[in-house]
Amino acid sequence: MDHFELRGGELHAEGVPLSRLATEVGTPVYVYSTATLTRHYTVLRDAVAAHPTAFGDALIAFAVKANSNLSVLATLARLGCGADTVSEGEIRRALKAGVPPGKIIFSGVGKTDAELAYALDVGVRQINVESPAELDRLIAVAAGKGAVPDIAIRVNPKIGAGGHAKITTGGEGDKFGVPADEALALYARAAASPHVNPVGLACHIGSQITDLAPLEAAFRLLTDMTRTLRSQNLSVTRLDLGGGLGVPYAGGAQTASPADYAAMAARVLEGLEVEAAFEPGRLLAANAGVLLSRVIQITDRADGRRFVVLDSAMNDLIRPAMYDAFHEVKPVTPRPGPDRACDIVGPICETGDTFARDRLLPPLEAEDLVVFSGAGAYGAVMSSEYNTRPLVPEVLVDGDRWAVVRARPSWDEMLAREAVADWL
Ligand code: LLP
Repeated sequence: MDHFELRGGELHAEGVPLSRLATEVGTPVYVYSTATLTRHYTVLRDAVAAHPTAFGDALIAFAVKANSNLSVLATLARLGCGADTVSEGEIRRALKAGVPPGKIIFSGVGKTDAELAYALDVGVRQINVESPAELDRLIAVAAGKGAVPDIAIRVNPKIGAGGHAKITTGGEGDKFGVPADEALALYARAAASPHVNPVGLACHIGSQITDLAPLEAAFRLLTDMTRTLRSQNLSVTRLDLGGGLGVPYAGGAQTASPADYAAMAARVLEGLEVEAAFEPGRLLAANAGVLLSRVIQITDRADGRRFVVLDSAMNDLIRPAMYDAFHEVKPVTPRPGPDRACDIVGPICETGDTFARDRLLPPLEAEDLVVFSGAGAYGAVMSSEYNTRPLVPEVLVDGDRWAVVRARPSWDEMLAREAVADWL
């Protein structure tokens, strides 16, 4: 459920008409809804809280990569949400947004020594180690600082899942994590080091997962490994179950609910006496954001093909080009009349800059406003200035109020970041 609704024939973000934001901020622009973010977080929080014995003192750590805007992070931080981070930059954002270090998990397949050192200085809750080589480097960095960080070993369960091959992370050939048998040995090796404190296991098998079966299989593997490690007198007190739960991008699409997901995880973890961590990204943010765009023109071909040319492009929302992703497109002020098939494209000079082919849309004219739904996760964070298009701005709405939370750069600001080499 989201809070982007028609009121008086016009799409609003909560109490704010999107046409007002288009006039005052310009398009394209991402618009986020505080009420929707809050609802998604509280639904998951309550679903997890319904199983206190299974999950212990559970942590929900928002995957910052999905939407790293400081205001989005601050909205979630105020609700008690932690942060799952994959770079020094993301840790810095989480801290600036008010996430306490004790709720920050540091994940990622290629953390540099400098990033590990930064995480130790900050005192993050836990570092998820993804390879033997990384454990060696972390031990060296920690020894140099006299720190003893809590770590989890990220397991590659050889169970991949997700909405597209490019976002499946748990498969055998994927670069993430340590295969289960190696992970057991690595855990024991970490436990023997005075410089790190292994507290648990982690996994994350993919993104936009709509069926619980692969997640359940991965969680069962983690619980089996926990018992094996404990039988070797090794302490395991935390399980990080990763993120990955999918969202319905198309109206009517079926996805497992947060309540079903939590109940499944509780069944698997019950009796194990661990603290669980969850790392949702898309689930919290996707349907809390839209990309608002204006139609530049309609191009009708003699063969009947109609192109709706928008002022947003693949540099603003790359998911359709990169993952063949589906985002609903809706007019802000729907006109009466029959739907017709259109190709929805941006102005960038490659055919990849196509948001949808043969999409049925209600009547549209030049200057009309449209939104892409489900754009709050992996939207603005993946934007670029390709074709020297200014980085897309972001607006946060809360009831009747709104704020520009990332401004569109001016031409001067964009060009000032570069220099003409002094010999030219
Ligand atoms: N934890 C870890 C370690 C991750 O790598 C990810 C996402 C998450 C949590 C959050 O997953 P989520 O709950 O959002 O599914 N750019 C792609 C998605 C890439 C996801 C990468 N990892 C897209 O636009 O679909």
